[in-house]
Amino acid sequence: MSSHRQDSTRRLAAPDITARKGKTPIVCLTAYTSPMAEILDDHCDLMLVGDSVGMVIHGLPNTVGVTLEMMILHGQAVMRGSRRAMVVVDMPFGSYEGAAETAYANAARLMKETGAQAVKVEAGETIAANIEYLVKRGVPVMGHVGLRPQAVLVDGGFRAKGRAAEERRRILEDARATAEAGAFAVVVEGVAEGLAREITEAIEVPTIGIGASAGCDGQILVTDDMLGLFDWTPKFVRRYADLRTEISQAVGRYADDVRARRFPGPAEIYFAKAG
Ligand code: KIV
Repeated sequence: MSSHRQDSTRRLAAPDITARKGKTPIVCLTAYTSPMAEILDDHCDLMLVGDSVGMVIHGLPNTVGVTLEMMILHGQAVMRGSRRAMVVVDMPFGSYEGAAETAYANAARLMKETGAQAVKVEAGETIAANIEYLVKRGVPVMGHVGLRPQAVLVDGGFRAKGRAAEERRRILEDARATAEAGAFAVVVEGVAEGLAREITEAIEVPTIGIGASAGCDGQILVTDDMLGLFDWTPKFVRRYADLRTEISQAVGRYADDVRARRFPGPAEIYFAKAG
């Protein structure tokens, strides 16, 4: 149990997160299902229904194949399981980069059908006009700069960004453009040490780091990574549990009990009423 158990019942929203700039670090994790959202809700300020759901839950090789319908289903599940943390739903690849009107129609659909408090887009100077269009029409937007998983097919892999001066400058400009367009917070993913701090100092809204150092206003991880559900995790993940091993051992014990006819036992069966 975290020492900072949430006590209020009002659900947090974009202005609450923005107001945390430079204050107590903002605690964020990904969530895709109702039971997990219920557990995380006690501890998190913000839950992201990330398009990482495609890789974590659906076994896709990257996030490019994730659809609006998948995001809606998982967004609904997370909203049902939570009551206090702000819920942000990722806009999937292809749903927000074109015409601003299309981005708005898709964002509005995500918000209406899930009840979530905001959407997230992989941002940059090229997307800034669409962010402004959405925010001005009532859609709170969270940006995402640095390593952008939806650009994996252009970049050729999930590699840390901002090691060279020109790339650092571009990522800083992406973050500035995203914040100036009206994003309420910006995720900074997989950037070389120091750049996240520079971005945090340069923009007026909170930065949420993932593989971006402690120099951010908050942190996020993929929950399944930090719980140890995968054999491999990126360098920046700290494993707080080893659930893969625990699950495998538990399932092994169940299989042994079934094969030895030790399960079910007297405590796990129904008896007929006397008479
Ligand atoms: O999709 C996702 O889970 C994300 C986080 C890694 C920030 O974008």
